[in-house]
Amino acid sequence: MSGIEVRDLSFGYNGILILNGIDLSIDRGSTVTLLGPNGCGKTTLLKTINDLLKPASGSVVIDGKLASTMGAGELARVLGYVPQDHRSSFPFTSFDIVLTGRIPHISTFSSPGARDFEEAHRALELVGAGHLSDRPYTQISGGERQMVMIARALAQDPHFLLLDEPTSYLDFKNQVKVLKTIRSIALRERVTVIMTLHDPNHALAYSDRVILMRRLPSEADKAGPHLGLRGGGPSMGNVVAYGPPAEVMTPENMEKAYGMKVEIFEHNGRRIILPV
Ligand SMILES: Nc1ncnc2c1ncn2[C@@H]1O[C@H](COP(=O)(O)OP(=O)(O)O)[C@@H](O)[C@H]1O
Ligand SMILES: [Mg+2]
Repeated sequence: MSGIEVRDLSFGYNGILILNGIDLSIDRGSTVTLLGPNGCGKTTLLKTINDLLKPASGSVVIDGKLASTMGAGELARVLGYVPQDHRSSFPFTSFDIVLTGRIPHISTFSSPGARDFEEAHRALELVGAGHLSDRPYTQISGGERQMVMIARALAQDPHFLLLDEPTSYLDFKNQVKVLKTIRSIALRERVTVIMTLHDPNHALAYSDRVILMRRLPSEADKAGPHLGLRGGGPSMGNVVAYGPPAEVMTPENMEKAYGMKVEIFEHNGRRIILPV
């Protein structure tokens, strides 16, 4: 039973339904992109998978175990999470930041051992950031910080890597570099990546599967009354489609998610998506 199963999950903030009817089955070893408009609940979904937020109903099962019963330490040994904002004002070196990723594997009252130092070095090398090892985290570029945080999550030696907008704040070239690195790590290390992206063309190019999401209509009256939440509607779910990018990101589905018309072109066997 390896993989992540999200079963009929719903979640709300302050009594307002944000996620509804989420059913997903994510296999080991694939790269999955969450795509959808601002505020549709991508970050919220990552946090419910990571058990940082408790679902109003439904469940998350990770490698056959209910996430809600796992506890932070056990979860951190299978699941690495890189939130969107990760600033540190202390000038720790990149290596020290990555080494903190080993905490879930170090028993209480112990110090990091040789194995932990090795794993941290290996993680930095994997993301191509070995040369940043001694540099203060506060003095490296946005793209480099992103790689260091991914290395930190990899040092946890996780089965799953949740990345919230790994390309935000990066320039064109660094976006592509980070996405290619993520993809190759997923393949080589057999890590399942679940990431949120904003650029549909990146989703097309760098994912095995896309989860295309939409916002629940807030004005909808048919609340999730069983949950005591307003918004949504009993049959209204966030997931427009889930599957291979080319099958999911059709003009019809993109319009359902974003409320805008797009065209899809093919060039040298690659797909390009553009607004009409
Ligand atoms: N801590 C919070 N308290 C109340 N509402 C929130 C909170 N975090 C997010 N929201 C709301 O939940 C919705 C989904 O947010 P989020 O998951 O961040 O969307 P996305 O990541 O897709 O842009 C938005 O309407 C947002 O305003
Ligand atoms: Mg977000």
